[in-house]
Amino acid sequence: MIVHTYCASTYGVDAHIINVEVNSIGGFPKYFLVGLPDRSIQESRDRIEAALHNSGYEMPRSRLTINLAPADLPKEGSGFDLPIAVGLLAVSRQIATDLLPDTVLIGELALDGSLRAIKGALPIAVEARKRGYKNLIVPFDNGAEAAVVQDLNVYALKHISDVVNWMNGKDSNGAFNVNPVEMFSNGHARYDVDFSDVKGQENVKRSLEVAASGGHNIILVGPPGSGKTMLARRLPTILPPLTLNESLETTKIHSVAGLLKTGNSLVTRRPFRSPHHTISDVALVGGGSIPMPGEISLAHNGVLFLDELPEFKRSALEVLRQPLEDGHVSISRARMSVNYPSNIMLVASMNPSPSGDWHDPAGHGGSNAAQMQRYLAKISGPMLDRIDLHVEVDKVSFDELSSKSQSESSEDVRKRVVVAREMQSKRFMGMGIHCNAQMSTRMVRKICRLDESGAALLKKAITSLGLSARAYDRILKVARTIADLGLSETIQPEHVAEAIQYRNLDRQGWLG
Ligand SMILES: Nc1ncnc2c1ncn2[C@@H]1O[C@H](COP(=O)(O)OP(=O)(O)OP(=O)(O)O)[C@@H](O)[C@H]1O
Ligand SMILES: [Mg+2]
Repeated sequence: MIVHTYCASTYGVDAHIINVEVNSIGGFPKYFLVGLPDRSIQESRDRIEAALHNSGYEMPRSRLTINLAPADLPKEGSGFDLPIAVGLLAVSRQIATDLLPDTVLIGELALDGSLRAIKGALPIAVEARKRGYKNLIVPFDNGAEAAVVQDLNVYALKHISDVVNWMNGKDSNGAFNVNPVEMFSNGHARYDVDFSDVKGQENVKRSLEVAASGGHNIILVGPPGSGKTMLARRLPTILPPLTLNESLETTKIHSVAGLLKTGNSLVTRRPFRSPHHTISDVALVGGGSIPMPGEISLAHNGVLFLDELPEFKRSALEVLRQPLEDGHVSISRARMSVNYPSNIMLVASMNPSPSGDWHDPAGHGGSNAAQMQRYLAKISGPMLDRIDLHVEVDKVSFDELSSKSQSESSEDVRKRVVVAREMQSKRFMGMGIHCNAQMSTRMVRKICRLDESGAALLKKAITSLGLSARAYDRILKVARTIADLGLSETIQPEHVAEAIQYRNLDRQGWLG
């Protein structure tokens, strides 16, 4: 007798339906598991046998072949326990099989038969619905996450005996229901921090507003305690609110990484990820023998903050380059390649020198020129090429810190950002990009035209301030964003002048 059950395996942020074929013929009891199972699936037999036994069911005593199809897709993870166990129960007539063709099952079995959460329940639910399955059975802790998908009956169960009862039509519990639109609007745009917490620093706040408006990467340069980390943390609060679609994209990545907490099934705020500088390359961009998304993908649709940029290993900064450019990470394996989206804003911070001060009086405990060069060499070139705005952050004075005057709230700043982004959406309609930072050199030439006085100003800046060639396009892009914030169709000289201010690291000749 052959029985088919259906489950799914995740690849990147997508899932594929896997058909578990269980065949039983009489003869000496044997157990074959075929179809590219990984180690954890190979080990499932012992878990399944114990779980069935401890839940009052019997492991079939016959010659069993379990085939995971399609055979050419590698399969990973412990989520196959449940579909294999149900197949074994069906083939030995311990449960009814009527519901099997319409049902996707996923879950790891504990030895006592209870169901343990798996990673990637959301992409699996998305795929199950897409392929026309009516029901999805998941471990209880994955319920809220999977139920975000509508038009699919999601049953979140705790034990293999609950699954058997459901299959036999004895389960009185209805499908798990959540309303993603309601959940989304309840949680979204609420942050624990606000721009108004930051006293003074008006110019830095302005530059963050510009960065948010055009989607530009930004680096904050300032001495310890000047508030760089505090400012960076507040960037997500002035970005346009996450859309439901963006929320689902980001939630899928967090689902695959197993980061969704029970009851918190939708990422409703823009992520802010701040990995420590000792992070491994794989943890930063993703990968590993069983591919997992890295910090850059967990920050998808939000902000990746690299605090103390020069402390990061050079190799880590190298591996970030391509994903920053492409907006996704590709990981190739022998039998497949997976993709994780990584559409992020990068915010970096650094001290002006290894000793932390602006001025480096060599021989006075400060950093000498050689130290300084080594410090800056790491971030020069490719990394800095991807950062449009360089901003100096000075310490705020005591008067400013103690002042009672209320500064502008994130909500007010966000309104301007949203308007600027809308102008860009219109501008780039049908062009495959959505904000100024994403313009190619050709688009910059076409879109960011200067009038005579603007062009003269830029020429003077480039030559007299000694700006490097790479500064040229950056200034034009940022000037376009500043013009958008000023609701101006054309780029005016004052927009160019402000944009030039944001090329400090070129100007000081630090990075040649
Ligand atoms: N403009 C400000 N308004 C209110 N508080 C501030 C401001 N700047 C700094 N602070 C206070 O100083 C603390 C230190 O700031 P923060 O950690 O952001 O500095 P930093 O520049 O990141 O320093 P480091 O280089 O040491 O990481 C903040 O937690 C905050 O309490
Ligand atoms: Mg800091």
